[in-house]
Amino acid sequence: MDARPWLALLTGVMLVSAELCLPDGIPRTSREYIQDPLNSPEGSAIRMVVYDWAAAEVATELTAILLSEVLGYHVEVSSERTTGSVASALQLAGCVSFDCSEKQPRSHVAMDTWVAGMPGELADFERTHPELAAKSMGSMGYSGQDTLYVKGSVRDEAYYTSGLALEFYKSYNTSLHEPSKFFSKVSDLDKADFVPCNSSAHEFTNDVQMRFYGQWTGDWEGVLETETGYIANCSDGHFWVSPACRHNVSECIPIVAAGFGWNVYVFMQWSTLFSMPTAIGIPKGEEQRRFAVENFRTLFHWWSPDAAFTHLDASMLVFPQHNRREWEAGWYRTAYPENQIIKLVAGQLTGMAPRVTRFLENLELYLDDVQGLLLELEAGATARAASCNWVRAQRSVWTGWIPVDTQCLPGEGGHLTDRSAAVGCSACHPGNFSEAFRDGQGATYVCRPCPAGSFENAFGKTHCVDCDVGTFTEGTGQAHCTRCGLGRYANSTGMTHCHACGIDHWTTSQRVPSEGLEKWLEVDGATSESYCTCVEGWFLNKGTCERCLRGSSCIGSEIRLLPGFHSTLEDPRKGCA
Ligand SMILES: *[C@@H]1O[C@H](CO)[C@@H](O)[C@H](O)[C@H]1NC(C)=O
Ligand SMILES: *[C@@H]1O[C@H](CO)[C@@H](O)[C@H](O)[C@H]1NC(C)=O
Ligand SMILES: *[C@@H]1O[C@H](CO)[C@@H](O)[C@H](O)[C@H]1NC(C)=O
Ligand SMILES: *[C@@H]1O[C@H](CO)[C@@H](O)[C@H](O)[C@H]1NC(C)=O
Ligand SMILES: *[C@@H]1O[C@H](CO)[C@@H](O)[C@H](O)[C@H]1NC(C)=O
Ligand SMILES: *[C@@H]1O[C@H](CO)[C@@H](O)[C@H](O)[C@H]1NC(C)=O
Repeated sequence: MDARPWLALLTGVMLVSAELCLPDGIPRTSREYIQDPLNSPEGSAIRMVVYDWAAAEVATELTAILLSEVLGYHVEVSSERTTGSVASALQLAGCVSFDCSEKQPRSHVAMDTWVAGMPGELADFERTHPELAAKSMGSMGYSGQDTLYVKGSVRDEAYYTSGLALEFYKSYNTSLHEPSKFFSKVSDLDKADFVPCNSSAHEFTNDVQMRFYGQWTGDWEGVLETETGYIANCSDGHFWVSPACRHNVSECIPIVAAGFGWNVYVFMQWSTLFSMPTAIGIPKGEEQRRFAVENFRTLFHWWSPDAAFTHLDASMLVFPQHNRREWEAGWYRTAYPENQIIKLVAGQLTGMAPRVTRFLENLELYLDDVQGLLLELEAGATARAASCNWVRAQRSVWTGWIPVDTQCLPGEGGHLTDRSAAVGCSACHPGNFSEAFRDGQGATYVCRPCPAGSFENAFGKTHCVDCDVGTFTEGTGQAHCTRCGLGRYANSTGMTHCHACGIDHWTTSQRVPSEGLEKWLEVDGATSESYCTCVEGWFLNKGTCERCLRGSSCIGSEIRLLPGFHSTLEDPRKGCA
């Protein structure tokens, strides 16, 4: 067997991914790094988190192409898949766990982040580490939907033969309509494809939710009390049957759940509270779920954006508007909440790369865009290929997201006061700050050196900080303040020089007790005149330092007679043996 064709194919794949997507894209060799001192003092690529769902993969690839080929940054897309916003918040903080005692390289961007509400752990983290908390760059442009769906063919047949709108929950009321005649029967489905209702890892055995069901519907026959808590009461062991068709299961509409029975308890309450004749089953796996949905006429749990069932032209079922307070109490007689889907970035990214965050704020995809991309994935395209096609075809859409090069943001500047000569904006370097600046073309920002007496040690700041007491900066544009030398002090903040203690033989020192003896330690960075003392061997007399006398010791500005010597009180200099 000749392995070479395979080799050629592999090389081809690698070449394609290293190649530019846009014919006029910025090549790798001309790209910049962002300043992230936490990752590397030399600069870091923009590191992107990827969630383990298809929409996140395409949104990430698409963003990566624009960040690298249009904005000109080095970008690294993680090869690992992240499960949700709790995990990504840690990656964006550069922490391994919420106490942040262990660090990992910091990621910068997480596209397609679903936030249905903030998990408690995240809220705590924001309180304890506000500087590390991730920031939202706003909506992706579409929101997430999660609900029951009906296939297009079923919906159309019902509407055109009897005017029944199966998209609407009230059409399922068995007192008025007979919706089940448009659907398959439970007996048509293969029971072996569905998990038993008593299986412990699934939502039919969620004690809390099954209790809520009984409590809010009063249908205690629909649940069973067991040793391990309440479980769904399924007469045939696999399908839970709603009161509206419990008398005759062949009048039930099958509902195909997803995952481990995600939210079946919501569908149970809907069915009972709205007199819907349904029989809910949880497929054993993704393959069984797809098979049941595609081959039978059922209601099914699905969400958007997702392309798995796009070809079925399905419609969402409309329920009364979401009521958050009721849902919090486990009472589901309204629709799902709308999930926000946002762009999440590292808290410090705005300071490190303001252009990147401005671009991300502008980036907005429509549901149609994502659905189109997801359909390409379903048809076998890679996320990179699908995104690249979109980027090539939709130039007029994304050019609106690219920040104007000479319109600088707070924290950055064109480094030049003349806009025509400015070469794009980038974060101001340490020693500089970004100052608002207005010219004929409007407001922008420029980087200016910090004034003497102040400093700035971070990138992308809008102001400089006054030097602390004990320190100073003499010149402008300093990233750090210098400590006052010996014999000098700075007794206020923002000093451009240190005061001298005196003319000659002065130092700054501090008395330290050491094994009962008194010792003086010279200190720099003195914050007040009280540190001023004469150097050892000199003592203070009427404001000047004088040389120590024979037979005395001089330290800390004081003079002491050595044993065996004495002096007169009036003039300590007249000591004699
Ligand atoms: C579920 O029910 C079946 C039949 O009623 C029984 O054989 C099985 O042991 C039960 N399984 C669990 C986990 O309770
Ligand atoms: C469970 O459902 C069956 C059939 O619908 C019913 O006969 C039975 O009474 C129910 N069990 C309980 C505990 O309500
Ligand atoms: C149950 O419903 C089916 C379908 O509507 C019907 O044909 C059948 O006669 C019903 N069975 C009983 C016992 O009512
Ligand atoms: C179903 O229709 C009947 C008859 O019109 C009505 O009394 C009942 O309130 C309806 N049920 C729901 C949940 O809308
Ligand atoms: C201030 O910014 C300029 C231009 O970015 C840079 O050359 C200079 O080094 C910066 N100052 C300091 C102290 O880094
Ligand atoms: C700091 O020291 C100088 C010189 O000794 C003195 O004039 C000034 O009042 C002091 N300032 C403060 C805030 O103590």
